[in-house]
Amino acid sequence: MRKLLLVLLMFVTACVQAESTVLITGSNRGIGLGLVKEYAAHGWRVIATCRSPESAQELQMLAQANNRIIIEALDVTDPAAITALAEKYKKQPIDVLINNAGLLPVDEWNKPLKEMDFDYARKVFDVNTFGPVRIMQAFMDHVAASGEKKIINISSQAGSFANSSHEPKRYVYRGSKAALNMFTFDIAHELGQLGITTIALHPGVVHSQTDESFEEAKQRFPGLITVAESAAKIYQTVAGLTPADNGKFFSYEPGVQMPW
Ligand SMILES: NC(=O)c1ccc[n+]([C@@H]2O[C@H](COP(=O)([O-])OP(=O)(O)OC[C@H]3O[C@@H](n4cnc5c(N)ncnc54)[C@H](OP(=O)(O)O)[C@@H]3O)[C@@H](O)[C@H]2O)c1
Repeated sequence: MRKLLLVLLMFVTACVQAESTVLITGSNRGIGLGLVKEYAAHGWRVIATCRSPESAQELQMLAQANNRIIIEALDVTDPAAITALAEKYKKQPIDVLINNAGLLPVDEWNKPLKEMDFDYARKVFDVNTFGPVRIMQAFMDHVAASGEKKIINISSQAGSFANSSHEPKRYVYRGSKAALNMFTFDIAHELGQLGITTIALHPGVVHSQTDESFEEAKQRFPGLITVAESAAKIYQTVAGLTPADNGKFFSYEPGVQMPW
């Protein structure tokens, strides 16, 4: 009898998972690609969006091997493309929406105020801050119509005021993530009334830039983690969210809240 119940429970769990859908932005490489693999491994339907599907080779290979991964072209700074995609999926509930796409302006880091490039700064804010806001606006109804109703804005500890480090001078990146944190905190209040749980999430210090080996990079960043570890822990953290977590800032480590 117990065996039968267990099998039944596994079947029900599989059915529930089979119906769950996640939409991820910036999913052709780095943490976004790691999240595609993680959610697909758990049986989710994945709408994997990226700027240039034609050059997203690893993502294309994953989608060829798994028909539950659907690739869609999406630049998070293109309002018309966002509206068109939201319209295409208007009957598709989206359980988890992950705003992952981001610009890490490494070339700009360490530049003093007098050298700030405002054209570039605007571009970074357009992707890192307004991108997630546009996507939330376009897909909030899809999320509200789902079972899980979760929106995850991938932020960074770099956007936390409580992170008192002043080195290096990442003004633009830190500003864009701090602004995203405030949008998340405030918009969560409105979306909470639709039953949606919206959070900001720090994914860890992640080895996503592959021009240097993990071991080499870890010497400079002792807390460095792999994309796979980040994605696996983000999955667990998101799975454990409840409506009581709405409007909060979390680490990728399950159960660890970040100070704003
Ligand atoms: N890596 C870390 O240690 C770390 C730490 C804290 C927070 N984060 C955050 O985590 C997220 C992912 O970072 P990552 O390390 O995986 O970075 P990454 O490897 O540089 O990947 C960034 C992704 O964002 C996409 N993207 C950039 N501009 C876009 C746009 N306008 N529209 C759509 N997609 C766009 C990129 O697409 P293309 O290939 O087309 O450029 C790429 O898929 C970012 O939000 C980042 O700020 C990362």
